Amino acid sequence: MKPKFRTIAIVPAAGSGRRLSLKRKKPFVLLRGMPIVIRTLKALEACGIIEAIVVASEPSCMKRLFTLVRRYRLKKVLDIVAGGRTRFESVRNCLGCVDPSFDIVVIHDGARPFVEKNIIEESIKLAAKFGGCISAVAENDTVKLAGRDLFVERTLDRGRLYRAQTPQVFRRDIIKEAYERASGTGITDDAGLVEGLGKKVKILAGSYRNIKITTKEDLKSAEAFL
Ligand code: CTP
Ligand code: MG
Repeated sequence: MKPKFRTIAIVPAAGSGRRLSLKRKKPFVLLRGMPIVIRTLKALEACGIIEAIVVASEPSCMKRLFTLVRRYRLKKVLDIVAGGRTRFESVRNCLGCVDPSFDIVVIHDGARPFVEKNIIEESIKLAAKFGGCISAVAENDTVKLAGRDLFVERTLDRGRLYRAQTPQVFRRDIIKEAYERASGTGITDDAGLVEGLGKKVKILAGSYRNIKITTKEDLKSAEAFL
């Protein structure tokens, strides 16, 4: 059955991956022979509800990404846009080319290639129902709130702590307003902007395998997953 709403995915895949400290820019680092960003795009393509994908790329890499998209025969990549200096700017640039006929926007990091289809689908359903939904995992460590002097201020209630991942999925009108009103500094999480509008964001229990490849250790874990 066809869903009653139209869904598009936005993939911020600009930036160079400073913390990975490799010569090659992070999206193009190979994971068992395939660039990270291509693995991510393939995972999104496999989700039937997603009709189209817009990707943000480093301006100097747009041609290379376009070539890869063709080589891997990705069919849903509608647009490759220039990324900005921050993830916030890259997502904002993508949002700028989302057609108003789309109802739901899935935002997913280019550096999270292990996202599972059922999590994407479930978060889309929950976002359609509640306006916003993020995939997150329960925190396993005890988390301390520290003062600037590095003394513990208090211990947070671990039972209520979740580590936000992507996909982060929203109704288009909500995420558009959130980005229009945002100032843009130090933002690494889309849901935070929606929370700032006083809107509800549902949490979907995600997967611990859906890591964001950030460091060399993450690359080792990623290779072990494959
Ligand atoms: N991203 C982006 N535009 C930027 C910076 C980041 O689209 N200017 C994307 C990255 O491609 C990644 C996601 O946002 O998919 C999360 O960012 P992060 O893991 O921090 O990637 P980098 O910023 O490239 O890495 P680093 O912070 O280590 O330099
Ligand atoms: Mg970064």
